Amino acid sequence: MTGREKALVSKLEKEYSLSEAEYAELITGRDGETASRLADLAAAKRKAVFGNAVYTRGLIEISSICKNNCLYCGIRRDNAEAERYRLTEEEILSCAAEGHTLGFRTFVLQGGEDPYYTDEVLCGIVRKLKKQHPDCAVTLSMGERSPESYRALYEAGADRYLLRHETADAGHYAKLHPKEMSFDNRMRCLRDLRETGYQVGCGFMVGSPFQTPETLAKDLKFIETFRPEMCGIGPFIPHRNTPFRDEPAGTLELTLFLLSVIRLILPEVLLPATTALGTIHPLGREMGIRAGANVVMPNLSPVGVRKKYELYDNKICTGEESAQCRGCLEARMTSIGCHLAVDRGDAPGWKIN
Ligand code: SAM
Ligand code: FES
Repeated sequence: MTGREKALVSKLEKEYSLSEAEYAELITGRDGETASRLADLAAAKRKAVFGNAVYTRGLIEISSICKNNCLYCGIRRDNAEAERYRLTEEEILSCAAEGHTLGFRTFVLQGGEDPYYTDEVLCGIVRKLKKQHPDCAVTLSMGERSPESYRALYEAGADRYLLRHETADAGHYAKLHPKEMSFDNRMRCLRDLRETGYQVGCGFMVGSPFQTPETLAKDLKFIETFRPEMCGIGPFIPHRNTPFRDEPAGTLELTLFLLSVIRLILPEVLLPATTALGTIHPLGREMGIRAGANVVMPNLSPVGVRKKYELYDNKICTGEESAQCRGCLEARMTSIGCHLAVDRGDAPGWKIN
C-alpha cells in the first residue's frame, strides 16, 4: 500500500466519501494490503452497527419468464433454450410458510419482467403474503414498473424494492442492454421507488463487460449520493446462451474490495453476500461477510424450478431443500463467528409503516 492509498483509505474512513477520480484511483491502485485494511475497517463498521448478526432473506424466484433481453442474463427473452416457469400463488404462499417455520422474516419475490404480473395479480399476492405473515417484510424485485404500479404495490404491503441500477454510466448501460431499454428509465424507477416510501436497493454486477475503474467510480458516487437502504453487488458470471457467453467472470478479489468500500461509504447499508459470490468461490459468501456484507439470501423456491431460474452458469444451491440451505448457511456463518438473525432486518432506524 503506497502513501497515496493510505491517504485515500483514511479519507474514506473519516469522510465516508471520495471524489469520483479518487474512487477510480483507489480501484486502479489497489493491492492485497489495501484490500485487507479496507476489509478490517469494513468488518469493524458492520460489527458496530449490526453486531455478529447476519440478516437472512428467503428468496422466492417466482417466474423465469422475461420480456426483456439484457445481454448478460440467462433468462433473457431470446434464450430459446431457457426453461420457463411461473409459480402459482399457492406455491408462493407455501414457500413462504415453510420459510417462516425455518426462521425467515423477510421474503424476496424476484422474477423476470413477466407481463402476467399485472398490478392486480401482484398486489393480490403481496396482500395474502402479508396477511399470512404479519410479522414479515416483503421485498419485491420485479423490475421496471410505472410510478402508479410501485404505489399500488406499496399500498398492498410491500416494504422494500430491489432494482439494481446495473451501472451508473449511461454509455456502459447501453452496452449491456438492447436499445429498447434505457438508463433514464432505470434511474426514474429508482427515484419513484424512493418517493413512494420503500426501502430501496440498487446495485451492479462486478466485472460486467465494458466495466472500467471509471464506470465503477460512477457506481460508487451514485451509491454515495442516492444512499440506498440496500445494495446488491455480485460478480458477473457468463451464461452459455447469451451474447456475453465468452466474456470473463468478475473476480472474487474485486467483489470483496468493493463490498468493503461500500460498507465504508454507507455503514448502515443492508449489503448481501450474494449467491453469485458463492458460485465463483466455495467460501465466497463467508469472505463477503468478512469484507463487510451483512445479509445472505438463501433460496426458498421449490427445488423443481430452481435450475430453471438460471441467470448464469453453474449457479449454486439449486438441488437443496430450503431447510438444508438455511442449515448450511447457519453453519457457514457460525464458522466465521456470526449467526443468522430471526428478524425482519429493516434498515437501521427505519420506521415500519
Ligand atoms: N427482473 C428483475 C430486475 O431486472 O431487476 C429482477 C431479476 S434480474 C435477473 C436480477 C439481477 O440478476 C439483475 O439485476 C442482474 O444484476 C443479475 N444478473 C443477471 N444476469 C447475471 C449474470 N450473468 N451474472 C450475474 N448476475 C446477473
Ligand atoms: Fe429480464 Fe433483464 S433479461 S430484466
